[in-house]
Amino acid sequence: MSRSKLLFGNWKMNHGPKATHEYFQALKTKLEPMRARAITGTLSFSAKSVGLFVPTLCLHQALQDAAELKSSLHAVGQTTSPRNLQELHVGAQLAHWAPNGAFTGETSGPMLKEIGIGWVLVGHSERRQFFGETDQTVHRRALSLLEQGFSVMVCIGETLGEREAGQTAAVLSRQVDGFLGGRELAARFAPHLARLSLAYEPVWAIGTGQTATPEQAEEAHEHIRALLESFLGPNEIAIAYGGSVTPENFAELLRKPSIDGGLVGGASLKVDSFTTLIDILGRT
Ligand code: 13P
Repeated sequence: MSRSKLLFGNWKMNHGPKATHEYFQALKTKLEPMRARAITGTLSFSAKSVGLFVPTLCLHQALQDAAELKSSLHAVGQTTSPRNLQELHVGAQLAHWAPNGAFTGETSGPMLKEIGIGWVLVGHSERRQFFGETDQTVHRRALSLLEQGFSVMVCIGETLGEREAGQTAAVLSRQVDGFLGGRELAARFAPHLARLSLAYEPVWAIGTGQTATPEQAEEAHEHIRALLESFLGPNEIAIAYGGSVTPENFAELLRKPSIDGGLVGGASLKVDSFTTLIDILGRT
C-alpha cells in the first residue's frame, strides 16, 4: 500500500451559503472538461482525495452542492473509472470532542455526522493562536473524532520565531507527541490510522505569500514522518503541506517524495485557482 494524495481547501471565515452555492456551480462547469481528461488518461485521481473545509454555517449548503456535483461527475456510463475524480469532500473546520453539553458556540461530532459530514480539520494554527487551542485540546479532538469515525486532518507547524531560533524540529516533535497524547495514548490511534492525515503548515508561510521552499517543507515532512513511525510503527499517514500554496508552486512541492498534497487557504477561495490545483494533483 502507498500513501494517498490530498488536496484540501480551507476557506477559513470566508464565503457564506450563497457564495458557497455559486462556487460549486462554477466548479461544476470547470470540472466537466477535466472529467473527459480523466477518462482518456491525461489525469488520474485514483488514491487521491479532494475536498474543502468550509465554515460551519455553509456545511449544509456545501454538502447539497457536492452531492449534485458528484452525480454530475458520475453521469451515466462515464465514471466507474477510479481515474476520475469521484467526489469533492466537505469538511468542518472545527468540532468539539464531547458529543454534547454546555459548550456555547461549539459543534459536536454527532451533529456533523447527522448532516453527513465525514471530514474534520483539527488544530489549525489560527485556532492555536487566537482561540486557545493547545496540544492537549488538539489531542482530545483528534482522538474523539477519529473514534467517532471521522477522517481527521491534524495541523502542526512552527512560528517564524521558532524557526529562526532553530527549534523547528523540537516544536514539531512536541506537537506530534502532543496530539497523539504521548507514547501510551498513541496506541489508541492505531485502529484509525487509515482516516488520519496531517498538514504541515509553517505559521510564517500562512497567508504571507512566503511559501516554504520545497526543500524546507521536505525536511519538515521527513522529520514528521519519522516521528509518526516511531510512535505508531510503519504507517501510510499522508502529510499535506500548507502555507501560501498556489498554482505556481504546487507541482514543485508535490515532486518531493515526503509531500503528499496541499492544504490551501487563499488559493482555494477562487474557483479558477482551486481548479488549477485539482488539475495539478490529477497530473501528479
Ligand atoms: P494560505 O494558503 O492562505 O497561506 O493558508 C494556508 C492555510 O492556513 C490552510 O489551512
